[in-house]
Amino acid sequence: MKYKVDMSNLPKHIAIIMDGNGRWAKKYLMRRAAGHRAGATALRRLVEQMNADGFAVLTVYAFSTENWKRDTQEVSDLMGLMHEYIQQYINDAKKNNVRMRTIGDLSRLEPSLQDKIAHLADLTRNHDGLLLNIAINYGGRDEIVRAAGKLARDARQGKVDLDGLDEDAFAAYLDTSSLPDPDLIIRTSGEMRLSNFLLWQAAYAELVSMDVLWPDFKIDHLYQAVAQYQQRKRRFGGRS
Ligand code: FPP
Repeated sequence: MKYKVDMSNLPKHIAIIMDGNGRWAKKYLMRRAAGHRAGATALRRLVEQMNADGFAVLTVYAFSTENWKRDTQEVSDLMGLMHEYIQQYINDAKKNNVRMRTIGDLSRLEPSLQDKIAHLADLTRNHDGLLLNIAINYGGRDEIVRAAGKLARDARQGKVDLDGLDEDAFAAYLDTSSLPDPDLIIRTSGEMRLSNFLLWQAAYAELVSMDVLWPDFKIDHLYQAVAQYQQRKRRFGGRS
């Protein structure tokens, strides 16, 4: 490694915007679906290594609320990959200690995919390895609106004290309730946008944009980003 990483001070929660599958496919004169497949393979390999290295939480942006705008073939290719990906973890659940959960509005997914996701979350609920949190049909604004709706319904039934509402009480209604906020958000392919990812939770996250297309992302890139993160001075709005 050409950079120094303090393994005793790893970020607890890393989130990744896996961007560049389409450009990767174009570069190798392949269909976009092949880029997404290579992206899923890159993710599987990364999860295995992060788990072995003792990372705690990884959230990945697999499908956004805006991705439905892509052509129907691409949406169906991505959903097909999701089925395969989840199924592989179901098959391996006994010999793999990764815990899996999702964020996002799953109600728009095919019922069979929803069932698979619920089954995998249940199978791995007591696993003690890396927590892999997959954002599917996820949008930060959509999550906040859904949280506000749930809060309003609870308020109508007298279950919440609106005068005592604070950030922690609101955050409990978000899809990420019980997860720590991300410390580090990585975006691949050099873009510098959040694209509606973890809008609430990103308040104090350190952002690292990397010039690598997602299918080419390796654990070494992750450690490069962690090294950058460890050099930053996090002040959370206070003074250093
Ligand atoms: C962005 O690249 C990537 C996506 C919209 C999908 C991310 C999906 C995967 C990595 C694979 C599937 C994941 C799972 C969990 C099975 P892009 O298509 O926008 O790339 P481009 O900007 O180069 O066109």
